[in-house]
Amino acid sequence: MYLDFSYIYDELMDDVDYKSWVMYIEEIIKKNKVEVKNILELACGTGNITIPLLKKGYDILGIDMSTSMLSVAKKKAKDMDLDLVLLNQDIVELDFEVYNLDCVLCCCDGFNYILEEEDLLKIFNDVYSKLKKDGIFIFDISSYYKLKNTLGNNTFYEEREKIDYIWENYFDEEDNILQMNLNFFVQEGELYKKFSEEHLQRAYKKDEIINLLEKSKFSDINIYSDFTFEYAKDSQRVFFVAKK
Ligand SMILES: C[S@@+](CC[C@H](N)C(=O)[O-])C[C@H]1O[C@@H](n2cnc3c(N)ncnc32)[C@H](O)[C@@H]1O
Repeated sequence: MYLDFSYIYDELMDDVDYKSWVMYIEEIIKKNKVEVKNILELACGTGNITIPLLKKGYDILGIDMSTSMLSVAKKKAKDMDLDLVLLNQDIVELDFEVYNLDCVLCCCDGFNYILEEEDLLKIFNDVYSKLKKDGIFIFDISSYYKLKNTLGNNTFYEEREKIDYIWENYFDEEDNILQMNLNFFVQEGELYKKFSEEHLQRAYKKDEIINLLEKSKFSDINIYSDFTFEYAKDSQRVFFVAKK
């Protein structure tokens, strides 16, 4: 669960090009010839995708289970004088009556946090029921390859100006779960405050996801790697696009 990490998340993600990410999403929408005015974004976090889309004029609702991530999003929007609509819910237990949506998004690992296949299937079924006919579902996950080989059983350490962290990872090949032990040291005056969080992510193979999408009756399924329009086996991030 994202707790204190939420307040330094944006700083640690400063190498992520969210501007290009949003442009890529818009390219996917254009390529699929769907008219998109409203968007539901699952696991929206601190709003790094939500806020730019709101600024572009989309009617967007962001959902996340972490109140601290949402509070960061809300503050950023308030500072920009934007009216950002957010809901604090677990995406496995979506509980609101909004249907006929043009587009549903889930960006940057949201579904890797769903550890059980049956829960992911439940989400896909809910998304299907909330989309309009021909509506588009776009999401990405960190690939199986990335969780197992790039992150798995590796320790990362970074010393930044005001934040240091040690990030230890253990990959369990039996249940395909990556356990990430995050230890942060954040400078406060002359001292450093230490806090730790454990995050678990599930590594899904491309075909497992396709199978679940098909079970939920999605069609026109396309898979792309690393912000391209092609699929490569050893890619780090895999994008899935499907239509109702
Ligand atoms: C890596 S962050 C990505 C945030 C945002 N999408 C972005 O692109 O920066 C993953 C997010 O998923 C959220 N999350 C994980 N499991 C969730 C669940 N079951 N329901 C709702 N949100 C969840 C976390 O709280 C966190 O904000």
